Amino acid sequence: MKNIEQHKSLKAYNTFGVECFCENFISVTNEIELRDALLNSDFKEKFILGGGSNLLFTKNLSGLCIQINLKGISIVQENEKEVVVEAQAGENWHEFVLWTLDQGFGGLENLALIPGNIGTAPIQNIGAYGVELKDSFVSCKTLDHKTGYEHTFSLDQVGFGYRTSIFKTTLKGKHVITSVQFKLTKKEHLLKTDYGSLKDELKEQNPKSIAEAVIAIRKRKLPDPAEIGNSGSFFKNPIVTELDFQKLIKIHSEMPHYRINISEVKIPAGWIIDKLGYKGYKKGDAGVHKNQALVLVNHGNASGSEILSLAKEIQEKVFERFNIHLETEVNIY
Ligand code: EPU
Repeated sequence: MKNIEQHKSLKAYNTFGVECFCENFISVTNEIELRDALLNSDFKEKFILGGGSNLLFTKNLSGLCIQINLKGISIVQENEKEVVVEAQAGENWHEFVLWTLDQGFGGLENLALIPGNIGTAPIQNIGAYGVELKDSFVSCKTLDHKTGYEHTFSLDQVGFGYRTSIFKTTLKGKHVITSVQFKLTKKEHLLKTDYGSLKDELKEQNPKSIAEAVIAIRKRKLPDPAEIGNSGSFFKNPIVTELDFQKLIKIHSEMPHYRINISEVKIPAGWIIDKLGYKGYKKGDAGVHKNQALVLVNHGNASGSEILSLAKEIQEKVFERFNIHLETEVNIY
């Protein structure tokens, strides 16, 4: 088996920039290498690493860490109006979005500048500014962890929900995504411009302008992982019952909220954490971002455990004051 590195630091492989060592590390660039690595019986534990943008390491990894480095973008089908594009799992998400825009394809513009890779994007159904990955998802290919067999999952099989999919629930740790197909528009683009701050920022009604507006908003509000370590939203926005919502809104009439259905309401976790006075808070090098309280940051040398301990403190305070349990969006290892 090709170049297995021992005792490798994953500091440069996670956007939080926390130190973490893995016993063994391999970067795979095609399906054969990936299958070999998955089926390698020398290592009992296998850890799949994508873009490292939605995880927090709190301990070193034993066994084999397999970095998914499969590259390539191709058009698999097209007609006058639409196109199906396939991207390999190791492609960077934002670079792929820019590529689609350069081709004049619409559909992914609201998802510009989200950190991470193609292969991990479906796991949590990434979303921003009124659009989710599921809106353009056609299918994805995977290799089964245990058998190395290839599978294809279509939209109706992946159980997409708010920041979740079957790969985060029943099939967690069972499949490695190798490529994803998206259906995009070539003309008559379905533009989604309703999200408050996006509407205000928009100059023209076309995919490229939307992406530019999204990039401008994200740059203003969210820290660039190349400058300050972070994994985007650390928590999910909680969904509360109508009854609990009524109790909260009586006390906090200014609380932003989005109705999901007749009996459930989504509350921005960032607003709650902000309300508790945590925006810009620092505990050693672990902190809460100064412009968006939903994002935890590493100001330099914070360890994963220090960031986790801050997250737990916030969860406890939120429960105490709001009777809401905040779930983490980021995967903790
Ligand atoms: N708010 C505050 N204080 C804060 C943060 C937010 O008062 O510190 C308020 C805002 O003023 C606004 C509301 O909370 O009224 C919502 O804030 P925002 O529009 O920034 O969106 P969000 O709900 O906090 C979600 C996603 C983001 C995504 C944005 C835009 C989740 C967990 N997060 O954040 O996704 O970019 O909407 O669509 O759903 C990510 O997943 O990494 C991520 C950044």
